Amino acid sequence: MTNKKSFYITTPLYYANDELHIGHAFSTLAADIAARYNRSCDNKVHFLTGSDEHGQKVEQAAKAKGLTPLAHTDALVEKFKSLWETLDITYDDFIRTTEERHTKVVKYALSKLYEKGDIYEAEYKGWYCTPCERFWTEKEVPEKLCPDCKRSVQEITEKNYFFKMSVYQNKLIEHINNNPGFIRPENRKNEVLGFLKQPLGDLCISRPKSRLSWGIDLPFDENYVTYVWFDALTNYISAIGYPFDLDKFNQTWPASCHIIGKDILTTHAVYWSTMLLALDLPLPECIFAHGWWVTGEGKMSKSVGNVINPRQLVADYGLDPFRFYLFREMVFGQDATYTKENFIMRYNADLANDYGNLCNRMLPLLIKNRDGVFNKTDANLPETKEIIKLAAEVKEGYVKAMDNFLFHEGLAKIWSLVQRLNKYVDETAPWKLAKEQNFALLDEVFYTIGEGIRFCTVLVEPFMPHMAPEFLKQIGCDGKNYSIASLEWGQLTDKSKCTEPKPLFPRLETERIQNLKKSKAEPVVKPVEPQTEIEGIITFDDFMKTQLCVAKILTAEKVENADKLLKLTVDTGDATNTLVAGIASYYKPEEIIGMQVLMVKNLKPAKIRGILSHGMILAAETPEGGLALMTPNKPAKTGVRVK
Ligand code: MSP
Repeated sequence: MTNKKSFYITTPLYYANDELHIGHAFSTLAADIAARYNRSCDNKVHFLTGSDEHGQKVEQAAKAKGLTPLAHTDALVEKFKSLWETLDITYDDFIRTTEERHTKVVKYALSKLYEKGDIYEAEYKGWYCTPCERFWTEKEVPEKLCPDCKRSVQEITEKNYFFKMSVYQNKLIEHINNNPGFIRPENRKNEVLGFLKQPLGDLCISRPKSRLSWGIDLPFDENYVTYVWFDALTNYISAIGYPFDLDKFNQTWPASCHIIGKDILTTHAVYWSTMLLALDLPLPECIFAHGWWVTGEGKMSKSVGNVINPRQLVADYGLDPFRFYLFREMVFGQDATYTKENFIMRYNADLANDYGNLCNRMLPLLIKNRDGVFNKTDANLPETKEIIKLAAEVKEGYVKAMDNFLFHEGLAKIWSLVQRLNKYVDETAPWKLAKEQNFALLDEVFYTIGEGIRFCTVLVEPFMPHMAPEFLKQIGCDGKNYSIASLEWGQLTDKSKCTEPKPLFPRLETERIQNLKKSKAEPVVKPVEPQTEIEGIITFDDFMKTQLCVAKILTAEKVENADKLLKLTVDTGDATNTLVAGIASYYKPEEIIGMQVLMVKNLKPAKIRGILSHGMILAAETPEGGLALMTPNKPAKTGVRVK
């Protein structure tokens, strides 16, 4: 064993109450991509996933099937593992919360905190949501509906055990402020800091067996089982040896990143962090809360009936396009909408046209004119020099993005090179060079394209682990010899002989096109006449009168007696403005705090519901009739003018 600490990445432990959909697959794929990327950078990696098997939801699901909870979770765990196999997830360990290696650590942690006085017994009165297994305070449920799932809550009074979370509140706030990368992305960090502005209550960590028996017994009171979150969160340390194999534990902990969805941010950022502080353990380096995959009906969930089955997408389009699509389409951290049309558009534009075509256009020419061999030459053309420079910049930008879990940015960097290479093919027209028998230049052009393809392919491998080696094979490289750590321009040698290309990403046709073809109807795309007359046309000078800027939302709150309005304060670089926006039906205040939005700055102030509103933020309707705030697609400088 070396002393180098592992890059330790985790997924949430999925509830073993139902089958998984693309939302769950997404978190696991994100962790897999981070793991593969780090391995390719020569880092030691430990990748953990697993199943959350205790609690009411699981108990109820088992009862509904007439099974014991364990028989029920055994069957589901097999399904989880088989899905991870289908998605080629390279996890190192799979932990089940029903395993002894886990339950004994939960008991150890509980005893330690009980002995320390951080767990105490008290009478508890609160409003309980059974499906969410969560208590709410009187104030949080004015209409006696669960704020999360909107189902009715019941008032319950009982003796319980509490973890003194409140003791660690200030320490946690300090840690978040001193470690800017701890909770990501930035708007989620602000959400947690906003939550921590209120005094933190203590956490009820027990459930009386009379109400729930499927859980880990409290070591100090056999009439109770452990609250499922206290149990499940402990997996991140129980799986790596805490406290019984400290050698292993110290080589792995703290986690480099817990990948989670935004729905479980509080439990991770607040419950888990305070648990670790109480156990005197370091906090994870990063908790990354990504957004949700939604369809027209909102967040994907079985009860809404709008789930997309990952197996179906893999069967229809192949694994690598599926993996690619999820991370190219979603700005990691924000929500994204899945539609079939959108999938096909992305596939055709990025994979079939841009990436796949590079090989398909080049390799037959190379085989015909240079016997399939890439002859290494000096870079003479200014375009070649430009590409070599761009490749180095792309690698640097990609590494920076991937080190920060910004997967969409990593892919965008690669595609900037793919697109530049396609332009290079058009600029240099190798088919003409071949006709003119200008072999010196032809070699330079082929080598640049071949090397460019290799560069992009090595970088894209964590996303497309099957297609990448196929691409490398086509340009005569053995994929095993390449890694991101050693990637440099110029490694392609004349020993690399390309093989006859087969299209790796054949174009997909949308159903609409297919149906039209069948009925021999009009072509779908009609040539569009250039528009000369547009109604309400303005001049450039007119447009420049509107001062559009990037504003950062500092606070957001509901406007009293106005369901649709939020009162916002925004940072516009040189000032803090107050404004009222009609977005309350689409965004919760805590969702948008910290977000950058586009705003019209020089709008005449107007009074709305007694509040003077300075400016207007921009939003557009979504295909489902929702509303999307216009935000820069990467962090911009707050206050800058949008031109
Ligand atoms: N068991 C808890 C987690 C315990 S972690 C110690 C749990 N399980 S879950 O099965 O409900 O999985 C929730 C996670 O699945 C989310 O946090 C997110 O990572 C992922 N997703 C579930 N639905 C999702 C979408 N629609 N979109 C993206 N990811 C979502 O919570």
